[in-house]
Amino acid sequence: MAKRLVVLISGAGSNLRALLAASDLGGEVVRTVADRPEAEGLALAEAAGVEAVSVDFSGFEDRAEWERALAEVVEEAEPDVVVLAGFMRILSAAFVRRWTIVNVHPSLLPAFRGPRAVHDALQWGVKVTGVTVHLVDEHVDHGPILVQECVPVDEEDSVDTLHTRLRDVEHRLLPNCVALLCQDRVAVDGRLVRIRP
Ligand code: GRF
Repeated sequence: MAKRLVVLISGAGSNLRALLAASDLGGEVVRTVADRPEAEGLALAEAAGVEAVSVDFSGFEDRAEWERALAEVVEEAEPDVVVLAGFMRILSAAFVRRWTIVNVHPSLLPAFRGPRAVHDALQWGVKVTGVTVHLVDEHVDHGPILVQECVPVDEEDSVDTLHTRLRDVEHRLLPNCVALLCQDRVAVDGRLVRIRP
């Protein structure tokens, strides 16, 4: 049976688009949730016939209240896997322990954690950066790594040009990893991840 996927977004939703377009995911995106109503990805979800909900961070008194509301909206959709596809909020330990959650990040972790990863890599002057898809634990950009792929940095790169090439890789790696999770092929032992054949 197809696994139920809930995708959390904050912005453009190009990774959500890649998930919606993947034919062999073994799962179905049943709900998309954004932390801001202006997130462009919400329209993408609606156009694909997927329920699109916003739990507006700025509409809540405090973070805990917002997260409780978010958790309810996620829980209602009964996900097997939750996908962070450009979701720019930190989630509590209690939240991340509730589901299997996967995140895509535009650097080779553990280098350049945080929301400015592409900028920080350029500032550091690295010649190679890349994409990481990992399981989410209670620390930011930290959980067990499912897959990584290198992307060379060009001397002429700006944040935009480099991020465009990184996104191209993300759009391939994230659906592949979600498919592995949907097929129950991911075995985790502490930090170590083994992909079952
Ligand atoms: C991606 O680069 C993702 O790695 C990062 O935020 C970006 C989101 O892009 N966390 P999009 O909204 O999927 O286009």
